[in-house]
Amino acid sequence: MQIDRYERIFLYASSVILAVFFAAVILSVTEAGIHLPTKEDAINPNEVRSTAPFDQPGVFQTGPEAFDVVIVAEAWAYTPNAIQVPAGAEVTFKVSVDVIHGLMIPNTPVNAMLIPGHVTEVTYEFDEPGEHNIVCHEFCGIGHHTMFMTVEVTG
Ligand code: CUA
Repeated sequence: MQIDRYERIFLYASSVILAVFFAAVILSVTEAGIHLPTKEDAINPNEVRSTAPFDQPGVFQTGPEAFDVVIVAEAWAYTPNAIQVPAGAEVTFKVSVDVIHGLMIPNTPVNAMLIPGHVTEVTYEFDEPGEHNIVCHEFCGIGHHTMFMTVEVTG
């Protein structure tokens, strides 16, 4: 009967969709390294300024083509608020905060919510020299709209 056939098709399709989603979850953990925040990412939000590496925010070269950018995001500024990195380098932003802020670089995939008590890490490679802004895109109070920093990508 026709109805049986449709039912069978929908059952198979549902099983395939479930299998694909389950595989996506497994791959995101095993291949992409996506995981829930752990104790290793934790930081006391009241002691950010005295906890390494956030006691010395700035840009640090970690390899021939790799940089760490250590940022403290507080209401309503990023420290440092202007940095330079070379084009083509792997740049890892490590950010800690006082209250919830955002970290977004327009026209790039960099888009993270910054949560108190956790160190947020985002890695990005700027292909072309130029100027970028990092903006806070989580409402964080009366100075929210003034909260940004600049990234100069050098050639
Ligand atoms: Cu910080 Cu909005």
